[in-house]
Amino acid sequence: MLGCLTLFVAPSSSSSPFLSFNFNRLSHLRPSISLPSTTDLLRTTSRRLILATKKRSVSTMANEEENVKRKLAKLFEVALKVTVPSVVDVEPLVAACTGKFGDYQCNNAMGLWSKIKGKETEFKGPPAVGQAIMRNLPQSDIIESCSVAGPGFVNVKLSRNWMAQSIQRMLIDGIDAWAPRLPVRRAVVDFSSPNIAKEMHVGHLRSTIIGDTIARMLEFSRVEVLRRNHVGDWGTQFGMLIEFLFEKFSNWEDANEAAIGDLQEFYKESKKRFDSDPDFKERAQKAVVRLQGGEQKYRKAWTQICEISRNEFNRVYQRLGVQLEEKGESFYNPYIPAVLEELTSKNLVEDSQGARVIFLEGFNIPLIVVKSDGGYNYASTDLAAIWYRLNEEKAEWMIYVTDVGQQQHFDMVFKAAKRAGWLSTDDNAYPKASHVGFGLVLGDDKKRFRTRSSEVVRLADLLDEAKSRCKTTLIERGKGDEWTEEELEQTAEAIGYGAVKYADLKSNRLTNYTFSFDQMLNDKGNTAVYLQYAHARICSIIRKSGKDIEELKSMGAIVLDHADERALGLHLLQFSEVVEEACTNLLPNVLCEYLYNLSEFFTTFYSNCQVVGSAEETSRLLLCEATATVMRKCFYLLGIVPVYKI
Ligand code: ARG
Repeated sequence: MLGCLTLFVAPSSSSSPFLSFNFNRLSHLRPSISLPSTTDLLRTTSRRLILATKKRSVSTMANEEENVKRKLAKLFEVALKVTVPSVVDVEPLVAACTGKFGDYQCNNAMGLWSKIKGKETEFKGPPAVGQAIMRNLPQSDIIESCSVAGPGFVNVKLSRNWMAQSIQRMLIDGIDAWAPRLPVRRAVVDFSSPNIAKEMHVGHLRSTIIGDTIARMLEFSRVEVLRRNHVGDWGTQFGMLIEFLFEKFSNWEDANEAAIGDLQEFYKESKKRFDSDPDFKERAQKAVVRLQGGEQKYRKAWTQICEISRNEFNRVYQRLGVQLEEKGESFYNPYIPAVLEELTSKNLVEDSQGARVIFLEGFNIPLIVVKSDGGYNYASTDLAAIWYRLNEEKAEWMIYVTDVGQQQHFDMVFKAAKRAGWLSTDDNAYPKASHVGFGLVLGDDKKRFRTRSSEVVRLADLLDEAKSRCKTTLIERGKGDEWTEEELEQTAEAIGYGAVKYADLKSNRLTNYTFSFDQMLNDKGNTAVYLQYAHARICSIIRKSGKDIEELKSMGAIVLDHADERALGLHLLQFSEVVEEACTNLLPNVLCEYLYNLSEFFTTFYSNCQVVGSAEETSRLLLCEATATVMRKCFYLLGIVPVYKI
């Protein structure tokens, strides 16, 4: 009993997905637009379930792709209705837990009790409600046993046969059968989004890595994702850059990447000119107007500068394996006037000190949408982008990945869009917009990450160093003689880039994180290198067994008799709900934590259960294969290329 109670005390302070008590995840996902909401789906299903309960048995075969938690939630929904018919629409509060009393818990008894207390009821208190919920659970092949603990928590122990069969079916059908389902059809993920002519820095690296993982997780969950690179290609800096281009190259039209060289240097030089020469400054300011007015010569110079930047960005994206479609700030420019007109007609826009602004409740500054010089700005562009994404691209969820410093900007823009009636005012409903903020990247000195000469760290240099350190380690371990140069290169890249990504993704994105090669390339602890080793080791166990794993999948059977086999199996089965949680809350670290725990469960299993040469060899090899399969999917979702041998 005490054990059960502690389970309910600990969770709020724990970030473990197992102990997450944010049960109401279903209610987060209640869209207001055409697609059926989860609640609707649940309602229809529960009607079906109620019919089925007449026979006191619910088949779980029909909805194979539902995750364990949702399957249990459906069963409990039936039980709750039967237990207290007078209270309608009770959301089943089901969560995974770790403890000897059960694998999952239903935590509705106390809430229900508070609703019926004092009224005519057969129950004497929450424990009795819990008992009744347990009794009223429809028979199901998922559940092995139930018990009630403390003030009415219903603990469920899953059937190990059912668990084993589910894992085996996943091995045959493929891991996509475990993809979560989200009530969203199309989402925009606005990420990376560097500024033209400025170097992509570590902040953009974070946005690129976090955004890519979110996009991958949503895509896996069958959401159509529009991966948008909202590059800064329309700011006032272009006047200065264009004028500098004209000044520096008389034949500027032929000035290509090779001639202009380092764009960041070019930017710095032109900024120096801008700050020190008033004539130049004036020309630069006029140039912006001419560019934005569409004058051909200026347009051409602008295109040229953007192209050089774009090539540079693309090289980084290619190395990171990140896909993006550029729709920069300039793209939305033509839409701004009509969008502002619409906002004005809705009485949102007012004049203020020569500018056009939107006053928003809760903010002490207004959102400026037309500057006093008549020009548009970052906010006007973002309002037009929201309009476009909703109306032209039909996105239901817009996700913006930038540093937390931009939080206020997005809060204001989203609020304005809500007031315009574009976004739902209910944060749990769609269409909605979410800002995915992240903290700073710090150096070893705990200050903002800079090079020794106090420059912004270049992304390309970081990737080079990660790779070369990995290559050196591999050579030290004798792989230089064993492997071809190509294998060496590919493995060094997979491990090195993977380590950079994982280090960024593993902690809660809102916190600052310290960039340290020594830490991220350590082969012990919670690092991608350690996880790559763990995966490669499983592959080697399977290889060395000499068995044909495809044959085992169809001929053999998984048995989860040993406690450590069962624990590993349970963790495998929770993959889908963890990805769902990571998507819903936009937290990639939840998936990292799952992956790390998976390797820990595997290690315990492997230390206590002999695989090759044991009587259970077939089943255990299949468990190894299932673990490797889930690990690879996690790697994929985190944008990490798995390594099969190290
Ligand atoms: N270019 C911006 C920056 O580097 C990020 C853009 C984010 N996306 C957006 N729709 N505002 O800070």
